[in-house]
Amino acid sequence: MKRTFFLLITVLVLSTVILAACGGGAPAETEPEPPAEYAGKTNPFANQADAATAGGVLYAERCASCHGAAGAGDGPAAAALDPKPADLAVAAGDLADDFLFWRIMEGGAMEPFNSSMPAQKGILTDDQVWQLVTFIRTLAK
Ligand code: HEC
Repeated sequence: MKRTFFLLITVLVLSTVILAACGGGAPAETEPEPPAEYAGKTNPFANQADAATAGGVLYAERCASCHGAAGAGDGPAAAALDPKPADLAVAAGDLADDFLFWRIMEGGAMEPFNSSMPAQKGILTDDQVWQLVTFIRTLAK
């Protein structure tokens, strides 16, 4: 009986320690899921140097004014924007291919984003947007 009690206390203490180590259960900030037409897509040019180079040229032309040369969200146009451009160095480490492809294609004119991020759909091809994703991955810290 004494032994059972001891075991019970050990289990209780251990679970408290494990829960505390997990951050007390505070919910992580979650990004919305890409819609069905984008969900599950993966980058056909992942880690390909020539695609990253091509994406870098597109990025300098079409994205750096807001997101900044290194993706930190500090381009010359950023100060005037609300919400501010995202830090793509963080996005590159955190977000899935389908999410990045969706956001670059469709931009910010939708819930819950409601931002000035321009859509590239109809302007850039799928391949060009994947080149951008390949480049953005190189910005990850
Ligand atoms: C007019 C300014 C502007 C331009 C130009 C722009 N963006 Fe954005 N972008 C934003 C803003 C503002 C946000 C943050 C709000 C949002 O998520 O829509 C954003 C968000 C994003 C996100 C989502 C990141 C995340 O953490 O959720 C990605 C990816 C992105 N931009 C990539 C690009 C790429 C690639 C280009 C160039 C093709 C580009 N943006 C051009 C303003 C811009």
